[in-house]
Amino acid sequence: MDFSNSAFKDGLMTGKVVFVAGGTSGINLGIAKRFASLGAKLAVVGRNPEKAQNAAKEIGPDAIGLSADVRDYAAIRGALEEVAAKLGPLDIVVSGAAGNFLAPAAAMSANAFRTVVDIDLNGTFNVFRACYDLLNKPGASLIAITAGQAVNASPLQAHACAAKAGINHLIRVLAMEWGPEVRVNGISPGPIEGTEGMARLAPSDDTREAYYARIPMRRWGEIGEVAEAAVFLSSPSAVYVTGTVLDVDGGSQLGDASKNDVEKGMA
Ligand code: HXC
Ligand code: NAP
Repeated sequence: MDFSNSAFKDGLMTGKVVFVAGGTSGINLGIAKRFASLGAKLAVVGRNPEKAQNAAKEIGPDAIGLSADVRDYAAIRGALEEVAAKLGPLDIVVSGAAGNFLAPAAAMSANAFRTVVDIDLNGTFNVFRACYDLLNKPGASLIAITAGQAVNASPLQAHACAAKAGINHLIRVLAMEWGPEVRVNGISPGPIEGTEGMARLAPSDDTREAYYARIPMRRWGEIGEVAEAAVFLSSPSAVYVTGTVLDVDGGSQLGDASKNDVEKGMA
């Protein structure tokens, strides 16, 4: 994405230390790259060490790429300690690791349900809990990546809906407990082009077309558009914003826009 018209100017994040859990691909990697482009020092974590190394190279010469599973508290704590020792206290922590697949609840194994809840919800608790004493306080910004499924029930998504709903409420509790030193917010992306998530949730052209029609903005979003929201929430412009979830979804949360299609109504 071309950021030349962005409200955020070069150097906005100079000196800031940013840790992105699940930052080795997709939306979270885009967030990491955007913070780096504004001057921040970056560390990203995922399970696959080679993918983490490649992501770090893509972000910049000084970025750190580590391997840790967010389901493993000791592993994620170890990664956070390593980053704080190398880069300094953490200013911004993004928790975005997630797992997802379409599966009907009646055919979903208990382990399948637990796996997604464990990565998304328990993983977010682990990342935020483990970073707390390593944060640069006051002023630190924590961001969880949630989804519209937290609010809107979606068939074949019992695991992800439950996990993301838990994340939304965890955000609110942590904002209450950790203010005023730490702000805790969420970003809820809509369908985003070129991501693993949408490859899994809308694998065919038909499902993609159906999605476009329902979204008020009539298109999927771009990774960079989500990244801009992460920068806003961590910027001096958002110092009184905590405990909220910012929808970056082209209005998807409003409902099915195709039912009120203006062109159809005028035809
Ligand atoms: C039914 C499935 C399944 C499928 C796995 N399982 N895939 N069940 N349908 N398609 C079951 C397995 O059979 C097993 O249960 C259990 O889930 C755990 O599977 P594992 O493969 O052992 O898990 P693991 O290796 O930990 O991998 C986690 C994963 C995997 C979630 C299953 O897909 C993954 O690593 N995903 C990460 C990338 C990803 O999903 N990105 C998209 C995020 S997008 P049994 O009973 O057999 O042991 C996203 C969209 C947001 O989140 C919008 C919605 C919220
Ligand atoms: P993605 O490319 O699959 O990214 C997932 C990241 O998390 C990868 O870096 C992955 O690396 C890492 N990860 C997965 N499981 C992990 C674990 N157990 N421990 C540590 N790291 C783990 O996904 P995406 O589609 O960009 O989605 C990113 C975020 O946006 C997710 O939180 C998702 O729920 C949310 N979201 C996405 C969409 C969308 O349109 N795609 C919409 C709404 C919300 P490894 O595989 O190497 O571990």
